[in-house]
Amino acid sequence: MQPKHLITVADLSLNDIDSIFKMANEMKSSLAGGKVTRSLEGKTLALVFEKSSLRTRVSFDVAMRQLGGGSIYLSRQDIDLGHRESVRDVAMTLSRYVDAIALRTFAHETVLEMAKNSCIPVINALSDRYHPCQALTDLYTIKEKRGTLKGLKVSFVGDGNNVARSLALLCARLGVAFSIASPNGYGLDKEFLDEIKVLTKVNLPTLSDDPKKVVKGADVIYTDTWVSMGQEVETEKRRRDFKGYCVDAALVALAKKDVLVMHCLPAHRDEEITSEVLDGPNSIVYDQAENRLHVQKAVLKLLLLSGKQG
Ligand code: CP
Ligand code: NVA
Repeated sequence: MQPKHLITVADLSLNDIDSIFKMANEMKSSLAGGKVTRSLEGKTLALVFEKSSLRTRVSFDVAMRQLGGGSIYLSRQDIDLGHRESVRDVAMTLSRYVDAIALRTFAHETVLEMAKNSCIPVINALSDRYHPCQALTDLYTIKEKRGTLKGLKVSFVGDGNNVARSLALLCARLGVAFSIASPNGYGLDKEFLDEIKVLTKVNLPTLSDDPKKVVKGADVIYTDTWVSMGQEVETEKRRRDFKGYCVDAALVALAKKDVLVMHCLPAHRDEEITSEVLDGPNSIVYDQAENRLHVQKAVLKLLLLSGKQG
């Protein structure tokens, strides 16, 4: 039997998502109440990271410690995935030592290859295609702030990247309206749009190149970097192409008065978002970042407590 993986939010049933949100609530309140739950005692998570990270790395590590387990961080220098040895051999070997692998990498195929060859759960901790842990936290945070997801409008301004894809996919699954404004050529790609149509016929993303139109009446404005990790050579071109797509106070003023401003972080202040907005009264970016810890505890419990296979 294959273990349960989290490669994309499409891997989760609606029941799984509901359980994750409920468990995250429990995790958050027990931590606030000083209650210790050592439900992952004796378990170890390998953090195989080929790219930089603050939130994902630290929240997974702290989540494991607080639940009585531990983690091992393996950077590119440590194992040189795919060069020093194949992804398959890394997956087969780690499966003998640890209980789960969180993998942050470039090509999405690497996550698929790791999962295919692993006897333990593999969590996509960000690939060039998806960032499922971020999207789960984002929808959890919106629900926490608004009390419900019903009837909400999420507007993304910027690049149709890994964060945008996962957010669009989870919004569609949970019945939340998602629209995105991107410059020509930077919107959600055809392959993704075809994929999402197979999963759902309703709540498909609305695409536009006009940020003003997209944020009108929005409950949430979301943005992310214009230059994702691995795209650094395109920095100057992207900065030129994304001119006019900065989330500033004038844009926020077009949304609902109590609009939630979100960003997965790291932010490039005064590029995709002004400091005024990031630090302003509508911004919930640090609550959003905190929730990575609670939601990932729930993800770990869901995947790890179903037992080690193979
Ligand atoms: N949002 C997020 O994944 O942050 P890190 O890249 O710092 O992990
Ligand atoms: N889109 C960004 C997200 C960072 C958390 C990147 O991939 O670099």
